[in-house]
Amino acid sequence: METAHTVAQALATARRRLTQAQQTPAEADGLLAHQLQRDRTYLIAHPEAELTPAQSADYAHLIAQRCAGTPVAYLTGRRAFRNLVLQVNSHTLIPRPETEHLVEQALQLGPANASVLEPGTGSGAIALALAHERPTWQITATDISLDALALAQQNAAHHRLTTVRFVHSDWFTALTGRYDLIISNPPYVATDDPHLTQGDLRYEPQIALVAGPDGLAAIRHLTHQAPTYLQPGGWLLLEHGATQGAACRTLLQQRGFNDIRTWQDLAGLDRLSGARFLHRTSSSSRLI
Ligand SMILES: C[S@@+](CC[C@H](N)C(=O)[O-])C[C@H]1O[C@@H](n2cnc3c(N)ncnc32)[C@H](O)[C@@H]1O
Repeated sequence: METAHTVAQALATARRRLTQAQQTPAEADGLLAHQLQRDRTYLIAHPEAELTPAQSADYAHLIAQRCAGTPVAYLTGRRAFRNLVLQVNSHTLIPRPETEHLVEQALQLGPANASVLEPGTGSGAIALALAHERPTWQITATDISLDALALAQQNAAHHRLTTVRFVHSDWFTALTGRYDLIISNPPYVATDDPHLTQGDLRYEPQIALVAGPDGLAAIRHLTHQAPTYLQPGGWLLLEHGATQGAACRTLLQQRGFNDIRTWQDLAGLDRLSGARFLHRTSSSSRLI
C-alpha cells in the first residue's frame, strides 16, 4: 500500500484495496479507528490528521490481512454481543448476531434466580450476556478448550461479572447437579459443508464449528444427556443450523422432552429449538 500521510488518504487507499479484494470497503474505517485507538467520529472530524510512518505501515499491514481474509474481529480482538464488548481470538468462535436470539429466549424462559448451564461457552458471550442482564442467576459455563475458557474468564473479569463459574469439561463430564436452564450454541456444521472453506469460518477453530457428517453430533449428545442435568420442568435451548430445526425437534421428542418448539431468526430461518423436560416416573405421570 502506498504511503498515506493523512487519515483521508489512508482511508481512500484502504477502501480501494478492500474493494479489489472483494471485501467490504467500509471496514477501512473501523480498522483505522482501531489502529489509531480513536472512535470513528475522530476520522470524520479530522480527515487532515497526519499519520506517523509507523501508523501508516501498521494500518497497511492490517488492511493486507483483511484483504487476505482474516476476520475483522480477530484483527481488532473485539466483538460486540448484546450490551457487552468481548475480547475474541483465534481460539474462540466470533459471537454471531443470531446467537443474541438464543439469549433473548433464555431471558424470557428462565425463572427468577435461575441456575443456568452453558456448555461450550467460547468467548463467554452467552453466559456473560445472561449474567449482565440477569444478575440474580447463577451460571456455570464450560468448554473443552482451555484457551477459550481462559479468554472467557478474562472477559468476565473485565466486565466484573462474578456470577459465572467456569469449568473445563467435555460437555457434561465434569458436572454434577441440576439446572433450571441449559443453553448452548454447539458446533453444528457438517464435516464436508463447503461454507467451511469460505469467509470467517476458514479462520475459526474447527472444534467450535464442526459436528460430524450431518452436523448434529453435538446436538444429539446434548439432547440425550441434558435430562440428567435438568431440574424437573427445566428448559434445554439449542442454537442450530437453518436446515436443522426438524431434526432437532425429532431428537428432543425421541428423548421425551415436552413443549418442543423452534424459533426463527430475523431472516425467518429456523435458528433455535428448545423444550422442557418433566422427569415423569415410569409408573406415573407425576413430576418427580
Ligand atoms: C459454536 S461455538 C459457541 C461459542 C459461544 N458459546 C458463542 O456462542 O459464541 C461452540 C463451542 O463449543 C466448544 N466445544 C466443542 N466441543 C466441546 C465439547 N466436547 N465439550 C465442551 N465444549 C465443546 C467449542 O470449543 C466452542 O467454544
